[in-house]
Amino acid sequence: MADFQNCGSCSSSLLELFERVSAQGEKVRSLKAVKASTDEIDAAVKLLLSLKVTYKTATGQDYKAGSPPVDFSPVSSNGPAATQDEDFVDPWTVQTSNAKGVDYDKLIDRFGSSKIDKELINRIERVTGQTPHRFLRRGIFFSHRDMNQILDAYENKKPFYLYTGRGPSSEAMHVGHLIPFIFTKWLQEVFNVPLVIQLTDDEKYLWKDLTIQKASEYAIENAKDIIACGFDINKTFIFSDLDYLGMSPGFYKNVVKVQKHVTFNQVKGIFGFTDSDCIGKISFPAIQAAPSFSASFPQIFKDKKDIQCLIPCAIDQDPYFRMTRDVAPRIGYLKPALLHSVFFPALQGAQTKMSASDPNSSIFLTDTPKQIKTKINKHAFSGGKDTIEEHRKHGGNCEVDVSYMYLTFFLEDDDKLEQMKQAYTSGALLTGELKKVLIETLQPLIAAHQQRRKQVTDEMVKQFMTPRKLAFDF
Ligand code: TRP
Repeated sequence: MADFQNCGSCSSSLLELFERVSAQGEKVRSLKAVKASTDEIDAAVKLLLSLKVTYKTATGQDYKAGSPPVDFSPVSSNGPAATQDEDFVDPWTVQTSNAKGVDYDKLIDRFGSSKIDKELINRIERVTGQTPHRFLRRGIFFSHRDMNQILDAYENKKPFYLYTGRGPSSEAMHVGHLIPFIFTKWLQEVFNVPLVIQLTDDEKYLWKDLTIQKASEYAIENAKDIIACGFDINKTFIFSDLDYLGMSPGFYKNVVKVQKHVTFNQVKGIFGFTDSDCIGKISFPAIQAAPSFSASFPQIFKDKKDIQCLIPCAIDQDPYFRMTRDVAPRIGYLKPALLHSVFFPALQGAQTKMSASDPNSSIFLTDTPKQIKTKINKHAFSGGKDTIEEHRKHGGNCEVDVSYMYLTFFLEDDDKLEQMKQAYTSGALLTGELKKVLIETLQPLIAAHQQRRKQVTDEMVKQFMTPRKLAFDF
């Protein structure tokens, strides 16, 4: 238990503050659980964030659910911990007050990961002999853990495998959801390695107002979109938790090993669970951890327990894998390596990531060319000026302009992107013209995805999702 001896008189008010933050966190969770309106949730999240900032200013420590304040050393008001614009990132909430989006350098410091710098990108290029993917060139995958170890293994002809996943919360996937899969496909191609994809239908059943039946159906529908990204059927195993756990003793044994080595206090600290969360949620992180260990897939890796794993994911998933890396050596396994991406911004701006429940916040994989055009023209937040005259005179701001941000994700041509940045910043290129380029980039991309998805048959889905040996000998 925490002890509050350091500051007899201030402990009660700090403890009160701690409790206010906990209660507000609880409120946000319950608003989300009952699907309250976005406005109501946003307001509650804002209050939560400001309480967290107050807490940090007062204690000099990040608020950690389940760990009341221990050591009170208030930081000076101009200290690094006292900034008013602290971002908040966990697997369920991404919030920042900055229109440029989350401060990812700060996140690297807070999470204790490493930056993907020029040197690492050059090494990837040297080792693979391939031009680094635009997501690497443009800092979209920006952070990592132990990537050099993976490259060492690859150079020494030691095998590794890829693991990524998706929580099937609805049928509708949007372009942002494709980011990890597009990148994972590239990694699979350049390194020629096995890939496992976890569909956490169990997670979505536990967190959302969904029946088991619906969650399973969404898993299958999402699997089709994932397959449409072009994964090699001979090198890829896709599984739904609700299905695979019941038929894989190897997998379940690893879940239980993780469960034995992580305490309730630890998951409270990492994920903000409270005493009133159901036990399914509390134990779920063990299920997302298990695919990081090759022993969870004996059909692919036989009895090999030491094949290293590399996980490409959005940075909000890192809490799961911090936990995984912490337990791995204690249960005799290697720590998985990670590559983290930034979030894909909502059309309305980079303060938050896109939400599948708000149709106007995203471009969906099912949108028609016309819908894409209308959404971008109507909703994409512009960093341009209010009038053409002003825009020509002062130029636009690419740092907050969502159409420009989307182009950094999807326009392959580096030179063209740079030209547009310069022209937009100088005022030569207008917002409408920039939007037109984005519309013309996304329309064919989405149409091609829809074509490929149409060709994905139920038989193919079944094959991808059947536990089997892949095209690698272990
Ligand atoms: N929890 C993730 C989500 O809600 C899904 C997931 C499971 C995942 N395992 C993963 C994502 C591994 C990235 C990497 O979307």
